[in-house]
Amino acid sequence: MASERPPIAVIGTGYVGLVTAAGFAQLGSEVWCVDIDTDKIARLERGEVPIYEPGLAECVVANRERLHFSDQLAPALEHSRLLFVAVGTPPTYSGDADLSAVHAVVDAMPVSDHHALIMKSTVPVGTGEAIKRILAERGKTGFSYVSCPEFLKEGDALDDFLHPDRVVVGDDGDWAGDAVVELYAPLSAPIVRTDVASAEMIKLAANAFLATKISFINEIANVCEETGADVVEVARGMGLDHRIGQSFLKPGLGFGGSCFPKDVSALKQLAGNSGYHFQLLTAVIEVNELQKRRVVAKLQKHLGSLVGRKIALLGLAFKPHTDDMREASSLVLAARLQADGAKVYAYDPVAEEVARSLLVGVEFATDALEALTGVDACVVVTEWPEFTTLDWSEAQARMSGTLVVDGRNCLEPSSVTAAGLVYEGIGRGAPE
Ligand SMILES: NC(=O)c1ccc[n+]([C@@H]2O[C@H](COP(=O)([O-])OP(=O)(O)OC[C@H]3O[C@@H](n4cnc5c(N)ncnc54)[C@H](O)[C@@H]3O)[C@@H](O)[C@H]2O)c1
Repeated sequence: MASERPPIAVIGTGYVGLVTAAGFAQLGSEVWCVDIDTDKIARLERGEVPIYEPGLAECVVANRERLHFSDQLAPALEHSRLLFVAVGTPPTYSGDADLSAVHAVVDAMPVSDHHALIMKSTVPVGTGEAIKRILAERGKTGFSYVSCPEFLKEGDALDDFLHPDRVVVGDDGDWAGDAVVELYAPLSAPIVRTDVASAEMIKLAANAFLATKISFINEIANVCEETGADVVEVARGMGLDHRIGQSFLKPGLGFGGSCFPKDVSALKQLAGNSGYHFQLLTAVIEVNELQKRRVVAKLQKHLGSLVGRKIALLGLAFKPHTDDMREASSLVLAARLQADGAKVYAYDPVAEEVARSLLVGVEFATDALEALTGVDACVVVTEWPEFTTLDWSEAQARMSGTLVVDGRNCLEPSSVTAAGLVYEGIGRGAPE
């Protein structure tokens, strides 16, 4: 059965590309992976997985014979018709998406009458049309184009790939769209077959909506702090309404990562470039920026001036179970604390290697308790299970101060206060 699946290529072996490659290999496809990062390709060829993502290394090892890695496009073009594009689309200074990597891939395509580009990268609406126009202008009319945006979330990426809520396939109704639908068929997920522009917008709108939900509950949390309500209770009561749902109603230090900030900004700019002022997204972005800084005010409320204070940050990546530091709240927090004269100590279970180059002047610890030793206060920045189950009595014995700021509302407040520490969450009413 496995041999009936067509071979595919994946261009770009980052978080999305490598997960896509490993996932399709797991489903039985031969996968030809390409990346311009020769060091990354060399590591992958040696069997090393350069990023941390639960289950990914095991999946790559288990499907090793079906995964081929190269820094050249030629083997991918030779062996597969379906070329999945998963290169980065980071923000430019203007907040638009930087499509230079996508265009580098398009530019490298040969004249062909049997290949298809399948866009997994998140791109502005209109990108597919523009790429088709460019290919046509260069006499490469034989190329098919499919928009197949990716919805996986880091930390659960492989599981999300194998159990998607839906698969979106935007195309012109030719062989390539049918082939992509067939590739995903074993996952039994609902398929949204639509046009290219709508597929592109589904991805941007989905991320913008989730980001809006986060900024909304963060604002509710901030009002709870002023009024004495507990946002955890409020979110539970709201989320049980099936029209609202529980997910993404967890207040905290704001959203980060490689997707939400850039995709919200890209949608806002896309709207602006098209003549529409997307007011809601402007507020979503501003609320998120302010949310990262509110923790500093919480620390000042308890400690007064932060000059010379020792503060520990637990968790550095933008969320648990990943080493991705892109747009992580810890970057803003550490910089703000240092600017206010504090000495910052930090620990992350998997992100230290990446974080070291970004958090200059921060002292790294090898575990959470070491990070807490001698500090005036600690901030739980991401909700790693090892922080939620930390021995707070031991923490209390190590700390010189008593303040614990729970930036993700992931701790049981009584387990912290029972150890003689002061608990301060997000939106959980006034502290004792
Ligand atoms: N990371 C996520 O959680 C996530 C989720 C959904 C969608 N996306 C989207 O998927 C895309 C990829 O994101 P990512 O997080 O995997 O990025 P990444 O930065 O981790 O990986 C991109 C890879 O593409 C490679 N690359 C760049 N130019 C290339 C070229 N011309 N040819 C071959 N390889 C090239 C880079 O070397 C890098 O390895 C982005 O558009 C992103 O918005 C990301």
